[in-house]
Amino acid sequence: MATLGVNIDHIATIRQARGGREPNPVHAAVLAELAGARGITAHLREDRRHIQDLDVHILKHTVSTHLNLEMAPIAEMVKIALDVHPYMATLVPEKREERTTEGGYPVRERERELTNTIAALRENHIWVSLFVNPDIGEIRACAKVGATHVELHTGGYANATNPQTADDELETLRGAAMAAHKLGLGVNAGHGLNYLNVAPVAAIEHVEELNIGHSIISRAALVGMDAAVREMVALI
Ligand code: PXP
Repeated sequence: MATLGVNIDHIATIRQARGGREPNPVHAAVLAELAGARGITAHLREDRRHIQDLDVHILKHTVSTHLNLEMAPIAEMVKIALDVHPYMATLVPEKREERTTEGGYPVRERERELTNTIAALRENHIWVSLFVNPDIGEIRACAKVGATHVELHTGGYANATNPQTADDELETLRGAAMAAHKLGLGVNAGHGLNYLNVAPVAAIEHVEELNIGHSIISRAALVGMDAAVREMVALI
């Protein structure tokens, strides 16, 4: 059965809007765990638009499920990951102008640099997940470069504008999850999942963890973190 990983970045987005100390993403992580989250994700972006370095360090010592550090595979972030030692590092493409991570990592284009980055993380016993489009070629490349997990990009499904496209995207996700599993990779999924569209993705065989941020934090702003997380856990 899939479990829920809560991405708490947007609690930090609200804090950074005023540059003060509240709300604190570490508090949000604790509340999410108490409400049933089985993992906490934080994305330390190069531009530090939401999560800050200190957040990551405090999260490492506070989170009692597991910490998934989302990061670009660049030297600066690898150094931080080796220092913080999260349970998992999820490697994502990052563009400064984007509002959120827009696509999966182009693994086949960057095989050599990814192999080296992943080796450095794996030598330090950090699980490494690659955020990829649900494409069989990309998934094979993830295994080749040494990743232990993939996180399937669910944006194509979440943003589908009609039921037929959504069904087709779900079928693609199912095939991708099966392919990753056969290659010995753990399977996570995320991006754009919300209270209305999560259930069919949660039901995909071999999907272990769903990483969900925006919809949960948006609902938490109105009904509180506890209720928002419990409701998502129930749907999953
Ligand atoms: N997984 C990855 C790799 C992401 O980059 C994001 C967005 O930060 C998420 C999951 C969560 O996406 P959303 O905020 O749309 O739930």
